[in-house]
Amino acid sequence: MTAVSPTPTAPARLLEELGRILGPTGVLTAARDMDPFCTDWRNLYHGRACAVLRPADTHELSAVVRLCAAHGVPMVPQGGNTSMVGGATPDDSGREIVICMSRMNRIRGIDPHEMTMEVEAGVPLKVAQDAAREAGMMLPLSISSEGSAQMGGILATNAGGNNTVRYGNARELLLGLEAVLPDGEVFHGLRRLRKDNTGYALRQLFVGSEGTLGFITRAIIQLQPAPKEVEVALCAVEDAQGALALFSAFRALDPALIQAFEYMSGTGMALVNELIAGASLPLEQPAPAYVLVELATPRPGTDLRAFMEGVLADAMEKGIVTDAVMAESETQRANLWKLREEHAEAQKRAGASVKNDVSVPVARVPELIARATQACMDLIPGIRPAPFGHLGDGNIHFNVVQPVDMPADAFLARSHDIMDAVADIVRDLDGSFSAEHGVGQLKPYMMAEWRGGAELATMRRIKEALDPHGLMNPGKIFPPAAPR
Ligand code: MLT
Ligand code: ZN
Repeated sequence: MTAVSPTPTAPARLLEELGRILGPTGVLTAARDMDPFCTDWRNLYHGRACAVLRPADTHELSAVVRLCAAHGVPMVPQGGNTSMVGGATPDDSGREIVICMSRMNRIRGIDPHEMTMEVEAGVPLKVAQDAAREAGMMLPLSISSEGSAQMGGILATNAGGNNTVRYGNARELLLGLEAVLPDGEVFHGLRRLRKDNTGYALRQLFVGSEGTLGFITRAIIQLQPAPKEVEVALCAVEDAQGALALFSAFRALDPALIQAFEYMSGTGMALVNELIAGASLPLEQPAPAYVLVELATPRPGTDLRAFMEGVLADAMEKGIVTDAVMAESETQRANLWKLREEHAEAQKRAGASVKNDVSVPVARVPELIARATQACMDLIPGIRPAPFGHLGDGNIHFNVVQPVDMPADAFLARSHDIMDAVADIVRDLDGSFSAEHGVGQLKPYMMAEWRGGAELATMRRIKEALDPHGLMNPGKIFPPAAPR
């Protein structure tokens, strides 16, 4: 049976009906009001929308989705609009409606016994982290854009970040989920059970679906005990091989203590030092590469500091680490983290850059960095590879910054050559072309090659079953289907 698309109706009538549900402040149609919702933060994608909707709760969202579906209007879910891959930006047809989740921003409850938090989709990650901290617990997911990124988007993209090495990705923190399906029906899966073997784990379908299967509206998140002792060190190393050796040294002794293990190149660190106010390297000399390691434990009295000092002293004796500094206060900890967290911003200020959010098995990170650096330099002389990221889980942001003497446009015209050169190496190392940022509209062309055959075909069948008219976030994840 072939699905018949609903006939598109004139937006004017639809807008009138939407206004009745959401009120005048819930529907934006003036170009200047819609602009911020039609561009991504990297300024790479510029779309147009016929309206931006701002529902306040699941009931309103369900009603407007039902209407949009009946009118055959495509919908683009948007959270904090911090996607690195254009995942929340409309196309330029002017037919799509952006549905912004920011007003659904309540924390519905924190349970200290279950150690869970129930959030609405529009709660910013930082707000959720702070609420967990105030309740004496920890929401163990941390990313550079946590001030703006929202919980719905975090789940829809299965965000990772700095703590994946210990607690996993967003997927692993999710207990229960509520979503509005593409036809407006509400999927009620807000259960908080550790054991619930009742068929398919449908909630997980929405995680990583990047808004192509519906809208995540509420979620129950597993929290962790708040750390009582935390130690952060910045270490200078000769190269990624040294960084890997240090990771193995910590892991061999106590993997459960490693809260973050981050790699930074000398080039990336120099850009942070140069371009970010208040950032300064607290080591004697700049180094070819750096590691930021954070250890933490919820058990007081473990003398974590002595443990960290012991591992670092041994690593220095063996020549793995050439210099290191340990934070002595919370302010110093924040200053060390600033050197890592400002990498993306510094690279943005340094000119045009191409991001390769890739992952490989941890032991292959040094080979990835060495080979991809060489490949990019062979491709464009003067290019500035500035790889950094989550070495502890194998996810490296192999970002490259334009040569100083090359116009940004000419550099960006080579984006796909760069991405393909890096991807070839990643594939050779059994990695993935998208580790934590998702596919969005930047990488669908890679899906056929990397996830083709039964894998992509199964994804398409799921998509068609839930969204037969293709109204949810069109153009994201899926490459155009080959004609049958
Ligand atoms: C990060 O870990 O800071 C990001 O995912 C940023 C990036 O790739 O630029
Ligand atoms: Zn990252």
